[in-house]
Formats: sequence, C-alpha cells, structure tokens
Amino acid sequence: MFVLGLACMALLLSSCCRKQAPVAQEQALNEGLAPQITNIGARSGWLLDGEWKSIVDLYETGYYDYRRAPMPTGRTYFREDSFYDDPTQLVEIDFDRAPTLKVPGDWNTQRKDLYYYEGSVWYRRAFEVPQQEGKRYFLYFEGANYETVVGLNGKVLGKHTGGFTPFNFEITDGLRPGSNNVTAMVSNKRRLENVPTINFDWWNYGGLTRSVRVVETPATFIRDYSLQLKKGSMNTLAGWVQLDGAQAQQKVCVEIPELGLSQELSTDAKGYASFEVAAEPELWCPENPKLYAVCFKAETDSVSDRIGFRCIETRGNAIFLNGKQVFLRGVSVHDEQPLEGGGRAYSPEHARQTLQWVKEMNGNFVRLAHYPHNEAMIRTAEEMGIMVWSEIPVYWTIAWDNPDTYANAINQLSENITRDRNRCNIVIWSVANETPLSDARLKFLSGLIDKARELDDTRLVSAAMEKEYIDEEKALLTVVDPLAEKVDLMSFNQYVGWYDGDSDKCDRVTWTFRINKPVLISEFGGGAKAGRHGARNERFTEEYMEYMYQKNVAMLSRIPGLSGATPWILKDFRSPKRMLVGIQDDYNRKGVVSEFGEKKLAFYVMQDWYARLRDEYAAK
Ligand code: GCU
Repeated sequence: MFVLGLACMALLLSSCCRKQAPVAQEQALNEGLAPQITNIGARSGWLLDGEWKSIVDLYETGYYDYRRAPMPTGRTYFREDSFYDDPTQLVEIDFDRAPTLKVPGDWNTQRKDLYYYEGSVWYRRAFEVPQQEGKRYFLYFEGANYETVVGLNGKVLGKHTGGFTPFNFEITDGLRPGSNNVTAMVSNKRRLENVPTINFDWWNYGGLTRSVRVVETPATFIRDYSLQLKKGSMNTLAGWVQLDGAQAQQKVCVEIPELGLSQELSTDAKGYASFEVAAEPELWCPENPKLYAVCFKAETDSVSDRIGFRCIETRGNAIFLNGKQVFLRGVSVHDEQPLEGGGRAYSPEHARQTLQWVKEMNGNFVRLAHYPHNEAMIRTAEEMGIMVWSEIPVYWTIAWDNPDTYANAINQLSENITRDRNRCNIVIWSVANETPLSDARLKFLSGLIDKARELDDTRLVSAAMEKEYIDEEKALLTVVDPLAEKVDLMSFNQYVGWYDGDSDKCDRVTWTFRINKPVLISEFGGGAKAGRHGARNERFTEEYMEYMYQKNVAMLSRIPGLSGATPWILKDFRSPKRMLVGIQDDYNRKGVVSEFGEKKLAFYVMQDWYARLRDEYAAK
C-alpha cells in the first residue's frame, strides 16, 4: 500500500476537486504519526471500542484508481458524511448500511466470510468528545494488523506499518465540536518485504485487533519516561522524563511516596531530564511481585504508574534475578484468546486465564511469541509475578537485504520497547526466531541487538537460534550461530522426538557449547489432539506427547548451564499450515492445553518438572 507523502498530501487536499493526475508516491513505512505516548491507560480519554461500520475492499477500490494509482483523498473512502449523503454524488458504497465489526477484535473470527480473508477492510465510526481550550487530543491505536491508514473528518492523518505495536496521531486541529468520523483502512496482506514475511506458523488475524481511544493531554505533557534500578545496581534508581509541548523547560518531580522519595528535575530545552537517586526498594520477583505507586509531576501535567524494581543479569552460564540464581520455568504463548478456540486476545480477562494456566504449571515465565502481545498481557503478568520474554516478528526467512524491512524491524522493536520499558517483568528482548544463517541476517540482527541495548540496558537480549548436529553419529548437538556471541542467553529451539527422530532419540542426544552463557530452550514439543489416546509411539496421541515430554525433560536436564525452558506451546493455536483433517483442522496441536482449555497429559509432565525446579532453586 502506498501513502501520499505528507507534502504532496497537502497539495492534493487543496486541489482535490480539480481532476488531477495522482502524484508520484513513495513507499512509506509510517506517515503522520505523533511520537508514541506511553502508559496510555493513565491518560484521560474516551475508548472508541464497540461496533464499527466495516466494508471489505479486496481490490482497495476505495484507495486506488483503475490504473492502480493512489487517489487524492477527495476521491477515496476517507470522505465526510456529507459526500455519502449527497444524492448527486457518484457514491458506490454506504457505510450507514454496512455490517459492523467489533473493535477490538480480528475480523477472521468474527465473520465466516472473513475466515481466511487477507486484504483491506474499511472501518468507520462516528464519535463525540468534549473539547477544552488549551488541551491536546490524540487518536491512539493499541494495535492493528498489519498496515493501517487513518482519516479523520475527511482528511488522511497518515499510516502505520506493523501488526503488534501501538501508534498515535495528533488530532487537536482536526477534532471538531459535535460529531466526528474516524475512518481506517486496515490491510493484513502478507508481503515478502514485511516483518513478518509471507510465511509464518500462525493465523494472519487482520483488523483493529486492539482498542482505539481518543486521549486528552495538557498543551505540554509528560509523553514518555523511564524508571528502573540502574544496570547492575540494587540500591540506585535511574530514570528520565520526556515532555512534549511548547513549555519544554519545567520542574518535574518524581515521587515514590512509599519510599519517601521525591526527586526534583529540570527539563532542558528539548523537554528532557535524566536522574539517578539512591533508594532501597523492595525488589520485584515472582514470589513477591512488588509494585510501587510512582507519580511524575510536571508544572503542566502529572502521570502515575505502578513500577517494580528488579535487577536481571547473567553470570557465567547462570541467570540471576536480584542477585539470586533463577530458572526461567516458562512456556511459549501466542496472543490468542484462551477459551474461544482462537482469535486475537486483547483483555485482562484473556490474560488472566492464560497466565493462570502458567501458574498451575508451576511456571514463573512466559515467552510471548512471536510478536509483541497486547499490553494487558504484560501488565497482568507483572501483577501475577510472571517474567516475560518479549519478541518482534523477525521470523524465518525475512528479506535481510531490504533496507525498508530493516527499518520496519527497528521501528517495531522501538515501539515495543517504548510501550513496555517500564514493565519490570519483561526480562528479555528477543530480536528473532529461527532465522537461517547468512551474513546479511547476522548484520540485520546485530543491528537490532545494538538498538535494543541502546534503548534499554537493564534487560537481557536474546533470539531463538537453531541447533546443529556437529556429530550425527554421536547425536552431539550444539548451537553454531555467530549471533551467540552477541546475545546474553544461548536460546534455541529443538524438536528432538518430533521433527528430529522419535522420543527415544532423546536418550542418545548430548549437548555441548563453545560459549559459556546460560542456555534457554525457547521451544521443544510435539502435537496431540486432546482426548486422542493410543500407544506412546503413535503420533498425535496424548500418550506420544507425554512420553516425548518426559524424554525431553530428562535430556534437557543434562544440558550444561540450562537456565530456562519455554516448551512449544501452552495452547493449541490457529495456523493455516496445519491441515490434517480430524486432528489439526487448522490448529497447531502442540499446546499442552487445547483451544478449549482441556489439559493434555504433557501438561502434568511440565507441572511436575517445574515443581521440582522451583524447590531446587528455592533451596539455593
Ligand atoms: C517453530 C516455530 C514455531 C512453530 C513451531 C512448530 O519452532 O518457531 O512458530 O509453530 O516450530 O513447528 O509448531
């Protein structure tokens, strides 16, 4: 999808009535966005969730002319109601009579005719918000998959690319008293140059999959901030504040009442101030997920958050949380509703059910695969004492040589870190999953790792690398990946017993590593349809899966420096790659829980292993 460059957009707006050749377009990643506002839930505003009018536009007739050139805004579907109500106009669509789609929510699970749909859908709704003089207004999207062009009251605001991170537009000037209309064209088309690319093992859920809201701020407000223990310290807090608005130089006070802390700052001409301050907070950990009420008070704005303080680090081949060695007792998770048979998750209720299963498994960790999950998942996990591996969808065969693809990945990483940097339970930023080795791939991922460390030095960085046999005869496995030098954890996926031999092969496999770092098995597992029983060598039976898990647990326990595991996967999930009728039926069946919440025998293998590890590490 091409978007009018902002400059030529203004030109076209002024001449939309005159017949005019479309202006040459540029392939833009993002257009018209305002800098991302963090902790959006703390902001006053109005949710625009609910039923939005929707029009399926497979050929993007509402955006391109018959020569496939983008049309001037005045000829697209981003029109004022007056156009649609004018009988003299050539109108070939009618939002008023269109069906609706619920927001938040993917379209694939809302309508049978959209089950496999990959293309563009127009969303539109009217809304009114009371406006105050001197205030600013933003239109904030928590997430939409995959490309989204947004218009307000007949004017295109801009575009966002990426299916799993928030974005916002300033609408202070475009908002009007009384009724406003917001229109969004969302496309989930897969493209080779996208992130992810065209091939991935999950359902390509499209749409306004997460909430939309209008947010009100003072003219100068606290747009972003960071507060955490200083890297490597447990008694010094380090942080910064970023104001947005004309009154950039202000006094800002950072208050943590429970610690009796009140730190005064003076922001510079760019509205920025950083600080360090001695403090002895009670540290956040799974056993005691302590969060502090923190208030950032500027002269013109204040914003509150609940922040936990913790120190995550590695020493040799072990991981330490707050100076105590930990084992990351985890499981991989897709961002799907836990009990509805699929569909994008978006609510605290969805998160609580999913994370309750993790707790029942005696887990203290989740790998949120393969893209940033909805914010409620991270915040609920933080409250429940569950650590998080957060990942961007640099998955499989990405277009490593394409600079736009790299810019897209950097942007998604930055948006993810901006949204979640103050969520203490995120302990790992992951930049990739199962990516084939090449020089271009190493350069691409090295850049992402450097960016992650630049944006946030308080967390570990990793990627799900791939294992290699260095001696097939002896079944000797290792990780031969130059990325291993750059990450903090030696994480990799291995499927001995499923894609790689049968379950008994696990007895013969041994592991060796040339680098002394903690090892995290980011995936292992195999499939079974819940309730399908048979011999333990019969694929897709619960008995096969249980036995294979038992053999894997024994094998993994022999790995030197094993410090974490996230078996693939907590719950059966929708994937178009899983077509075995009667068993898969469009579901990847590697969940230890079915898509309707039935626990399989393998669930209890993990529950038992993690109970033993919990007790072993508690005694350290
Ligand atoms: C890979 C991949 C997963 C996929 C899994 C599988 O490891 O990372 O996304 O679903 O294999 O084959 O089930």
